[in-house]
Amino acid sequence: MDVPDLPDGGLCALVGPPGSGKSTFAARYPDSWRVCLDVYRRLATDSEADQSATPVAAEIQDLLLDARLSRALNVLVDSTNVFPHVRAGLLARARYWQRPAVAVLFDVPLSTVEAQNADRDRVVPLHIVREHHQLLPDADQLHREGFTAVHLVSELLATPAALRRAAHR
Ligand code: CTP
Ligand code: MG
Repeated sequence: MDVPDLPDGGLCALVGPPGSGKSTFAARYPDSWRVCLDVYRRLATDSEADQSATPVAAEIQDLLLDARLSRALNVLVDSTNVFPHVRAGLLARARYWQRPAVAVLFDVPLSTVEAQNADRDRVVPLHIVREHHQLLPDADQLHREGFTAVHLVSELLATPAALRRAAHR
């Protein structure tokens, strides 16, 4: 997959259900750019799935968002971000610091997401994967909310470079 250039000093929200490839995508950028609720839940409780730690994880994430955006450093939000109120919070923080906000939409078919989820160490319950997949917004919705650019993973996968690589296999 090709990765898009992200705006300097801006926020990039990854939007996709569990297992859609968000963390795999984030790993292509510098590690310090990434904020991730799963990581902070694990640091607080030894379990990234322990939802009782979501409030403290969100506080840590907000601190890092402010620390980085106030310095015009890139930040990549590696959470599902499928709920509109969660995206609104991210957009508000970017707006407060007058930084651009873009989204990467993981418009991956449910069958692919289910297969990727099943084939890894941390398997998220199927009903949660399906619920999150149903909640996925489309690109128009993300534009309307205020994201200045929306990159579709389906298109990133189909870029000429990806096709060239596929042809050489
Ligand atoms: N994966 C894959 N091909 C891709 C993207 C991801 O095979 N193009 C695989 C990864 O290797 C991993 C699984 O799919 O085993 C889930 O990817 P991950 O990046 O962990 O998904 P997330 O969206 O980060 O899931 P979560 O929200 O649960 O953290
Ligand atoms: Mg992840």
